[in-house]
Amino acid sequence: MTKRRSIVVANWKMFMGPSDGEHLAHNIVDICQSFSSVDVVICPPLVSLTKVGSVIEGTRIKLGAQNIFWEPDEGPFTGEVSAQMIAGWCEYVIVGHSERRQHFEETDDIVNKKVKAGLQHGLKVIICVGESLVENNAGDTKDIIEYQVRSAYQGVLPNDALQTVVAYEPIWAIGTGLASTPYAANRVCAKYVRGTLDRIFGYEVSQAIRIQYGGSINRNNISEFIVQVDIDGVLIGGSSLSADEFAAILHVIDR
Ligand code: PGA
Repeated sequence: MTKRRSIVVANWKMFMGPSDGEHLAHNIVDICQSFSSVDVVICPPLVSLTKVGSVIEGTRIKLGAQNIFWEPDEGPFTGEVSAQMIAGWCEYVIVGHSERRQHFEETDDIVNKKVKAGLQHGLKVIICVGESLVENNAGDTKDIIEYQVRSAYQGVLPNDALQTVVAYEPIWAIGTGLASTPYAANRVCAKYVRGTLDRIFGYEVSQAIRIQYGGSINRNNISEFIVQVDIDGVLIGGSSLSADEFAAILHVIDR
């Protein structure tokens, strides 16, 4: 089996409006010129997509959105943006981030619809899954993750599944400074995420899909995570808002 290429996604969340985003994107472009063995995706807020998109145009850095609506094309859905609209700008979209599940009541069914909407319009979909602290303490991680993975891929064809990335992000590790341990994270990625993908799509497809870890990644802990066999990259929130910190992380991954 050939090694899966690493993928690092910067999730800027609701930070970096157009001018701050443009500035940070310029810095990241400078940093990334020397990196060749890692895919880098920047996901700014919607209003910053055009500015950031024009800064990274012609570079190896890809643009992603943080969310789409589940109706794939268009319609009377005030305030929402569709996969069809995003597809003109972005190559990637994040779907099912725990902050959306938590604050916007996105269910597994909605996440599944969004996955299919994104794929229908040729987007590469980054599907987030993760258990809460209560679920983790109760020993329910396996059941929760396997259920979220199965639901997200309901009705998705194997060829389309190859256009997805899974991000395993334990909710208790996001923005808390308290990352999972590399061993525990790799175990979830290998057994519960890739294992479930194997049962749905078979060995070849499950081996080809990249799985990221996300949650309090920084320059000090990245080296332990990235060497894990089933962790093919990271989804980074806070540490992606500083060009220096982001560069330090990429340096370790590109080694
Ligand atoms: P964090 O966020 O790196 O700030 O923990 C990760 C995420 O929410 O994707």
